[in-house]
Amino acid sequence: MGARLQLDVTRMMADVVGPHGATPEEIEQHWPRVQSVLQTLEARRKAGELPFYDLPDSEDVVAAIESYAAKAREKFRNIMVLGIGGSALGPIALRDALKPAFWNERPDDMRDAPRLFIPDNPDPEFFGAAMEICDPKETLYVVITKSGGTAETLSQFMTVMTALKGAVGDKYAEHLVFVTDPAKGALRQIAREEGIQSFSIPPAVGGRFSVMTPVGLLPAALVGIDIRELLRGAAEQREKVFAREFDANPSAAFALLQFLAQTKRKQCVQVMMPYTNSLFRVADWFRQLWAESLGKRQSVTGETINVGPTPVAALGATDQHSQVQLYVEGPYDKTFTLLLPKNFRNKVKIGKHYPDIDSIDYLAGKEMGTLLKYEAEATQRALTAAHRPNMAFLFDEVAPDTVGGFLYILEAATLVAGGLYEVNPLDQPGVEAGKVATYALMGRSGYESVKAEIDKERERPARLIG
Ligand code: PA5
Repeated sequence: MGARLQLDVTRMMADVVGPHGATPEEIEQHWPRVQSVLQTLEARRKAGELPFYDLPDSEDVVAAIESYAAKAREKFRNIMVLGIGGSALGPIALRDALKPAFWNERPDDMRDAPRLFIPDNPDPEFFGAAMEICDPKETLYVVITKSGGTAETLSQFMTVMTALKGAVGDKYAEHLVFVTDPAKGALRQIAREEGIQSFSIPPAVGGRFSVMTPVGLLPAALVGIDIRELLRGAAEQREKVFAREFDANPSAAFALLQFLAQTKRKQCVQVMMPYTNSLFRVADWFRQLWAESLGKRQSVTGETINVGPTPVAALGATDQHSQVQLYVEGPYDKTFTLLLPKNFRNKVKIGKHYPDIDSIDYLAGKEMGTLLKYEAEATQRALTAAHRPNMAFLFDEVAPDTVGGFLYILEAATLVAGGLYEVNPLDQPGVEAGKVATYALMGRSGYESVKAEIDKERERPARLIG
């Protein structure tokens, strides 16, 4: 693994954290299974079934995005992404990791690119508030939906259309860009019929694996993130995700350790805890990837198995004052993955005041980043002393290449974990069920029988308290 991004598994092991950790024998025993999963994945990649592995090579797509984004950056003050799930979490993660914090709150002369709003949820209060502060005349709306039919996204799109037509009349198409399936779905049809600029999501790349398609790359490029560096970082990790040795393959090592933790030691809560705000939404992106890919009722052979870890996102040092009490003294049902930058992009020096008060003076003149790094070390020590298995991804700094590499490692790990759990990590039947019920409730034609079933359930008297 390149020196700019490494996985430290020292504190996952039983010799350091005691019986709640993994043993070398256990790893040795299960590693052949990982090797066989990797062999299958490699064969499927060669057969063209898993195109996500090769997204870092999308030179044509990158060039098209860069040329479109360069013009759009000049033209618009705001970018608003309309999308949900895999069509929103990747762009949010990239914005928060790779643009300065409070990007949208910065005055115009402190930004070199447009503001980027990604409301995600069709909450009328939240979405309505975003609409209020983005003048449609100054806004480019990036509508992202792989299926082209997700109710949350289309409801936002049609709300925007009303505002846009009111503000710019028949020039509305200039304020829209779609990211969707190359051939199918309502959005593709509209793009074709109305000549709206669009980019495609490769059909065999699922929503939560799409951050390195135009889903993530277009919003990122629109705010000036170096998407070439992002993909270069991912490509660098590709050399390693098929490595057959435990110590050479961070993604397979991560997948196996998490799998063993859950299946051998009932550590089903898997906390990802960055010690920097910039990676918090990356942990949130991972929460979807891990949960939606691995939480499955059926195995690949059709047996009912109801498996899956429960990913949790936490933030250091904030959650030291909220969750760490539980993490250190609560049940032994968790693993911890800390995300630790060695260098921060901002240096903040703590002021020197009150030299006579020892309980304050020890902080004076030190870097705030040093405090945060020592807090992370303190948490590692506390978890380890309390026999809680914890590992850490070490980032030289949070930058496009390390973030691209990290996302790629986690996507590859998810496929390995899918093989270990014997589930299909690429489908989401549980999500589809919710989508169908929503269509029925909102009166979409073709869903009348589901609506009738729901109406029947609604007859059940509610048990209300208070
Ligand atoms: O990972 C997935 O497939 C899902 O989370 C989807 O991204 C989400 O449901 C949104 O779907 P779509 O992009 O089709 O609107």
